[in-house]
Amino acid sequence: MVRPTRFQNLELVPSKPELASAAVELSRRPDGERYLAEGLAQAGESYRFVFVDCPPSLGPLTVNALAAADRVLVPVQAEYYALEGLAQLIGSVELVRSRLNPRLAIGGVILTMVDRRTRLAADVSDEVRRHFGELVFRTAVPRSVRVAEAPSHGLPVTAYDRSSAGADAYWKVAMELVGRS
Ligand SMILES: Nc1ncnc2c1ncn2[C@@H]1O[C@H](COP(=O)(O)OP(=O)(O)OP(=O)(O)O)[C@@H](O)[C@H]1O
Ligand SMILES: [Mg+2]
Repeated sequence: MVRPTRFQNLELVPSKPELASAAVELSRRPDGERYLAEGLAQAGESYRFVFVDCPPSLGPLTVNALAAADRVLVPVQAEYYALEGLAQLIGSVELVRSRLNPRLAIGGVILTMVDRRTRLAADVSDEVRRHFGELVFRTAVPRSVRVAEAPSHGLPVTAYDRSSAGADAYWKVAMELVGRS
């Protein structure tokens, strides 16, 4: 069910608890991997961007999202273990591309939760940029209390505190995304 928001040109389809059983149901259906793709087929006519938020694992919900998408945006937390997950994710994207959705491409890698004071964050950022080159967004999102607070006010960080470093970074990320599309 599409819901309006208080922001012009932004509509939401919220999740609900039943989504947990939908995951089980989807994996039982023969066409279960393309359920979302079929549901979203017409959306391109009404929306310039459709973002599908995914769980961190490659279950039926994520497979559905990858089967429906043109591009994958990968937020990477600037920590060592995030780097390991990234390699697995690239493998999953390859798999879905060859089996379900030849259009699928990596749209970009976004470094997030970057703590400029730590050596680890700098090392992981360097490593990700070395590996993914141009795919990495120029803007990195810093660790920002405002970003963590915004959801409890039901607001995007850009509306909650536009002058915070987190909002500024997300704004720039959005502009880069528009520039790439
Ligand atoms: N740049 C940031 N600075 C500080 N806190 C952040 C930042 N980004 C996200 N957070 C906080 O970290 C928590 C997890 O963020 P988020 O829900 O976006 O991650 P996720 O990987 O999508 O998690 P999940 O797997 O639960 O969906 C949230 O409380 C969020 O407010
Ligand atoms: Mg999430």
